[in-house]
Amino acid sequence: MDETGNGALTLDIFVIKGGTRLTGACRVSGAKNAVLPAMAASLLAEGPVEIVGVPRLRDIATFGRLLGILGAEVTHEGGAGEGREVLRILSGDARNAVAPYDLVKTMRASVLVLGPLLARYGRARISLPGGCAIGARPIDQHLRGLELMGAKTSLSEGYIEASADLLSGAAITFDMKTVTGTENLMMAATLAKGTTFLKNAAKEPEVCDLARLLRAMGADIEGEGTDEIVVRGVRSLHGARHEVMADRIEAATLLLAGAITGGDVTAMGADASTMDAVLEKLRRSGADADAVPGGVRVRREGPIRSVNVKTAPYPGFPTDVQAQFMAYMCLGDGFSVISETIFENRFMHVAELRRMGARIDVSGNMAAVRGVPELSGAPLMATDLRASASLVLAGLAASGTTEVLRIYHLDRGYEALEHRLTSLGADIVRVKE
Ligand code: EPZ
Repeated sequence: MDETGNGALTLDIFVIKGGTRLTGACRVSGAKNAVLPAMAASLLAEGPVEIVGVPRLRDIATFGRLLGILGAEVTHEGGAGEGREVLRILSGDARNAVAPYDLVKTMRASVLVLGPLLARYGRARISLPGGCAIGARPIDQHLRGLELMGAKTSLSEGYIEASADLLSGAAITFDMKTVTGTENLMMAATLAKGTTFLKNAAKEPEVCDLARLLRAMGADIEGEGTDEIVVRGVRSLHGARHEVMADRIEAATLLLAGAITGGDVTAMGADASTMDAVLEKLRRSGADADAVPGGVRVRREGPIRSVNVKTAPYPGFPTDVQAQFMAYMCLGDGFSVISETIFENRFMHVAELRRMGARIDVSGNMAAVRGVPELSGAPLMATDLRASASLVLAGLAASGTTEVLRIYHLDRGYEALEHRLTSLGADIVRVKE
């Protein structure tokens, strides 16, 4: 783990000796971005919520600490085997709880407690999440939706104060696709009086996974996965046991490790139906990418063909795979134009990839990648979760040795990535600070 007891970060690094073709199969963890909203949803339940398949990640530990501060009892139960960890959450009395800045600033997903606290207790006080490395990431859509449902919100000393005697159903149209905005309001609407229509809703599989959990808890929801979600308020929600979906972003990262090294990798547990855009781009780049019993397999033998990528809300190409795919395109046979349409500053991996010999020109939200025959290992600095993964992939394919510093960014979203890559034949070790 990267954290010392008091949550301070240690500066572990990865040392990667590149050039090995990765082959074999490895397990994909439960999806971080499905576990976090599921943990928030437990605040709505009058009984225990058990989440099965929870990876050991820093963000999940942080969210567990937040729920503890909000009065919940959070226990980790050894699961039925690896990757089957069970998180059991029993909400307590969060009436006077506050989500503090020092926790929220490290994890923006904390905003997901806003809807549940308002719906269950009629009030919430959470620190306004600051921006983060990849962008300003405002939460205006969350707040406007809650106000349309009758909540009063104000900002004082960096904290959002929200209150509502009783939330009422409303017709809400999002200005843009927002994943946690859709999740927050869907949760708030489950206990509101009347029916809520969420239009221009996000269609990510993680939103659908949350809807499945809420329905298991007694919520009346339909339309998840489409542009309009309809939620009919009920009086209360009970506990449930929920098997969380596989992490499609981690799966894409592991499969790209196979593709970039010219290997043959199977991501066990991955659900191909949630990965169409990524698998299609892998095929266009000259790799074989197919659903196989129990997972998804990617193989590449020929040259990497340069392809263009434009990130978009689901089912488009996921922004969370953009950095990893760019590393892959650095070794393409021509030009690849990569456009990032979701976040305003998600090219921080470019400067680091250039240090390895990559040829990348950035103009606004577009990066033009001219493929080169080889990347060479170098000391690199991780800056955010998915950019770190991009640097690891580049290191796996580069000649020589690559050191990736500040991999605490990586530990936020990938459980013991070095073990999984080693099981596929990679030469990668974690060096403690
Ligand atoms: C979720 O973040 C994910 N996090 C992100 O994954 C992911 O990159 C992102 O969705 C996009 O898919 C979790 O699910 C915990 P958004 P979220 O609201 O919900 C703008 C990772 O690597 N916007 O869909 O915060 C926003 O600025 C993380 O695991 C507003 O303007 O993203 C962005 O440009 C990184 N106002 C766009 O919408 C709002 O009120 C999409 O953001 C909300 C969003």
